[in-house]
Amino acid sequence: MAASGVAEIRYAGPGDAAALTDFYESLDDESRYRRFLQPVPRVAPAMADHVLTPPNAVLVAVDLDGAVVAETVFAPPRRPDRIAEIAYAVAPTFRRRGLARSMVAQVLDDARRDGVREVEAMIGADNRPSVALMRSFGARIRYDDGALMAHLDLSG
Ligand SMILES: CC(C)(COP(=O)(O)OP(=O)(O)OC[C@H]1O[C@@H](n2cnc3c(N)ncnc32)[C@H](O)[C@@H]1OP(=O)(O)O)[C@@H](O)C(=O)NCCC(=O)NCCS
Repeated sequence: MAASGVAEIRYAGPGDAAALTDFYESLDDESRYRRFLQPVPRVAPAMADHVLTPPNAVLVAVDLDGAVVAETVFAPPRRPDRIAEIAYAVAPTFRRRGLARSMVAQVLDDARRDGVREVEAMIGADNRPSVALMRSFGARIRYDDGALMAHLDLSG
């Protein structure tokens, strides 16, 4: 077990859309804003479908009841001039137990194994937990159009 109350950490499939929707709905407004970098007053099922659409890879942590309690999304670049992105969220009651750290580490390890050399995460300017998390992976942080961009070099 990765953290107390977590039954499994695994890559999600299309059958996880409903559980992922429930997870996004369960987040408070601020967490959802931080995750999606825009207000999300209502979670449409299409959001989870969009997140789960290949080539995205979505790692989920599931509790003993099968509910999603954390996710980390790896999104490969959609255009040659872009680089891969990650985004993540953890349910408030599961925070500060190392869940984001272990899930991000797994996603980055898998990406590195697949030959990915650079990954970015866009972070709201006031999101100190996420900045600290990215810094702990050695990210360089820069301002980018009102938000922060964490840049990870996986080639080292
Ligand atoms: C950011 C977030 C994913 C962290 O999840 P978490 O599982 O609590 O993080 P972890 O327990 O793995 O913490 C790893 C590191 O992140 C940093 N961190 C996490 N929460 C923090 C907090 N509240 N304040 C400061 N640093 C924090 C620390 O460096 C921490 O290492 P430490 O525990 O050794 O000090 C979680 O707060 C969250 O879901 N926030 C809302 C969504 C969000 O901001 N998504 C980011 C989109 S880019």
